[in-house]
Amino acid sequence: MPDPLIDVAGLTKCFPAAGGGDPVPVLRGIDLAVPPGEFLAVVGPSGSGKSTLLYCMSGLEPATTGTVRVLGRSLGELSRGALATLRRDHVGFVFQSYNLIPALTARENVALPARLARRGIDASRVDHALAEVGLRERAGFRPAALSGGQQQRVAIARVLALQPDVVFADEPTGALDTGAGSQVLDLLTGVAGAGRSVIMVTHDLRAAARADRVVVLRDGLVHRELVRPRAEEIAEAVE
Ligand SMILES: Nc1ncnc2c1ncn2[C@@H]1O[C@H](COP(=O)(O)OP(=O)(O)OP(=O)(O)O)[C@@H](O)[C@H]1O
Ligand SMILES: [Mg+2]
Repeated sequence: MPDPLIDVAGLTKCFPAAGGGDPVPVLRGIDLAVPPGEFLAVVGPSGSGKSTLLYCMSGLEPATTGTVRVLGRSLGELSRGALATLRRDHVGFVFQSYNLIPALTARENVALPARLARRGIDASRVDHALAEVGLRERAGFRPAALSGGQQQRVAIARVLALQPDVVFADEPTGALDTGAGSQVLDLLTGVAGAGRSVIMVTHDLRAAARADRVVVLRDGLVHRELVRPRAEEIAEAVE
């Protein structure tokens, strides 16, 4: 077995209670290792902690207790700057809402993170990322002139241009119809592999069935783990 790209051990996460009082536990002790190249899906009922798990694994949220290691480095032990650098150089994030800048073209949106990071990125890499998502012809369009599925593909190109080792996706097909959703899934399936992992949260059990492994969360714990399951098996495990 290669070293895991991400290794989560005893992860808990609490949020402050709305009206004061005891903090509310949302993740209650998660152990999870993600090998390089794996396409992992995370499913579970609304409120089970899926997004919170993704945020903790990607360093967007600190763990309350336990450890998250990315490429062998424990996120809790990194300075803010070191964490930001690790995330910039190795982690990509795709959200349900594509988070594109309306005033910028697709190409400019894809180039933006590298420019903000003052990291040299040549135009050919931006064009290559747009071609990978099948949008070379639309590179000069602004988001408003693109369909939802095309906008999500621009968001994925934006991630790919930075060549991350791991891509997190929180409900990436949640706002798309079946056709556009399956194009995005095809893309994410292809993004995983060759040492790059994809970790996707989804409500769509058919989407989850595309993954190499499915983790079912319930009440902040890993309830089940399924390897290459069919959608029906996932549905049973989520019940
Ligand atoms: N920043 C926060 N402050 C307080 N509570 C939070 C915060 N973020 C999440 N929670 C709570 O943590 C629980 C889990 O939320 P999370 O968003 O991880 O669930 P989820 O499984 O992604 O749900 P959904 O499928 O609806 O997106 C919820 O009860 C939510 O209200
Ligand atoms: Mg969520």
